[in-house]
Parts: sequence; C-alpha cells; structure tokens
Amino acid sequence: MQTVRTYRKMKASGEQIVMITAYDYPSAKYVETAGCDIILVGDSLGMVVMGYPDTLSVTLADMVHHTKAVRRGAADTFIVADMPYMSYHINTDETKKNAARLILEAGAHAVKLEGGSESRIEMIRAIVDCEIPVVAHLGLTPQSINRFGGYHVQGKQPDERKALLEQACQIEAAGAFMLVLECIPEALGEDISQKLTIPTIGIGAGRYTDGQVLVYHDILGMSDFKPKFVQNFANLGNDIISVLQEFTSHVKEKKFPAKENIYIPLDRKDN
Ligand code: KIV
Repeated sequence: MQTVRTYRKMKASGEQIVMITAYDYPSAKYVETAGCDIILVGDSLGMVVMGYPDTLSVTLADMVHHTKAVRRGAADTFIVADMPYMSYHINTDETKKNAARLILEAGAHAVKLEGGSESRIEMIRAIVDCEIPVVAHLGLTPQSINRFGGYHVQGKQPDERKALLEQACQIEAAGAFMLVLECIPEALGEDISQKLTIPTIGIGAGRYTDGQVLVYHDILGMSDFKPKFVQNFANLGNDIISVLQEFTSHVKEKKFPAKENIYIPLDRKDN
C-alpha cells in the first residue's frame, strides 16, 4: 500500500498522484482495481450520494458510515476521510476526538480539513500531534460556501493570492502531508506547488499541481451538474437509465424472468 512517504517520493520524481473520491463498497472496489493512488471519502458525498444542496449537512456519523464501507471495498489503498463541517472548528480536544474516530472506528489512514486560518493551522498541528496524517484544502473550500457567497474561483486578486500562498506555507509547517487546491488560477496552483515540499492535488487548479482529484460521479458522468474543470470520461448516468428502462419493459412485457432465470421451477408438466 502507498503511504505518506510514497506521495512525497512521487512529488520528488515528478510522477502525478491520482486521487479519486469513493463513498461506498462498490465505488471503492472499482477505484482500487483501477489503480488509483489515494482514495478520498469526500464530504461531497452530501451532494452526490445524499442529495443535499451543499456539504454542510454532512455529519461525522455519515463520514464514519461511508468510510467504513470504502475501507471494506479498498483494503489495499490509502484512504483519506473528510472531516465534516463543525467537526474541527470548536476546540482542539473535540477535533482530535473526531479525527481519531475516522481513523479508529472508520478505518481511514488520514483526515482532510478545509481552510488555512490561524485556528485551522492550530487544528492541523493538534491532529498531527496525535500521529494522524492530515491533508489540508485551500481555495474554493465548499464548507465556506455561505461566506464566499457561492462557488466562485478563489485567489484571483493579488492580495488573495498572497494570502493563499502564505497559508499553504503555514499548512506545510504545521505538518500536513498533502494539500488539495480547489478552483484557483493555474499560475497560483503552480506557484504553491513549486514553493511546497509536500504534494499538492488540484481540482480546477490547472495543470501544474503534483496530482489531480475528481469526484467519482463526475468522472463517470453520473452527477447533476458539471463544473468547467470536470471532464466526464463516460456517460454512465444515461447508460444506467437505459438499462433500468430495459428491465422495466422486460418486466411489464413479461419477458423477465425468462425460463432460464427460474431458480426453483414449479414441478409442473410444462417445465
Ligand atoms: O469532498 C470532496 O470530494 C472534496 C474534493 C472535491 C477535493 O473535497
């Protein structure tokens, strides 16, 4: 299994790191079989799996539940679990307990949290101090949606760029082993990636980060909305609808179950 050391070496050698989200047993199995480097049980599950309008309603119990299923589906892949909104905001004691649940109860190897403010840096330090590896997340951090006033590119203005670069350096100094950069200008993604020794993973952050992450359902073409930075590598959503329509018509037309699908036929002359 890959580890925090592997990702550091991959950055040093210039090998791109592939991170994909997974939320349950089958998605984790597919992602592991495909040879992905690192699985993220993202709180995006609130939107793509649970149907919430944003990630804010996701609870720690939700994250534990989904991470357990992912662990069972991907026993040989390094798993990062998102810390949900308000699970790392109150104080370091609660933060440490919540991070530990994701490791001990759910089976994650590391946790991810959003933001780079002073209090977030303190939380990163506290979690790392419990020997739990931390992935940080800067740029368009979805848990900040109400403060940002929507899903907008971050770091466009010079003062924002400077602040993000400084926060990235503080995050590295606090002990995080990886940094996700979401929806920032490509040049800023490149600057941060060059400045840091820990790997950066981009999503809508251009071509020069040390790896890329996308949401499972976006890659497969199974989500309701498609941001510009997403590429659908398939359109499984449409395929699923066609297959389910076919099943429906087979049942309606009494074509299914066919004779070969009958497990225990009735003992009748016509069988
Ligand atoms: O929750 C998530 O899936 C994420 C990724 C989009 C980086 O945080």
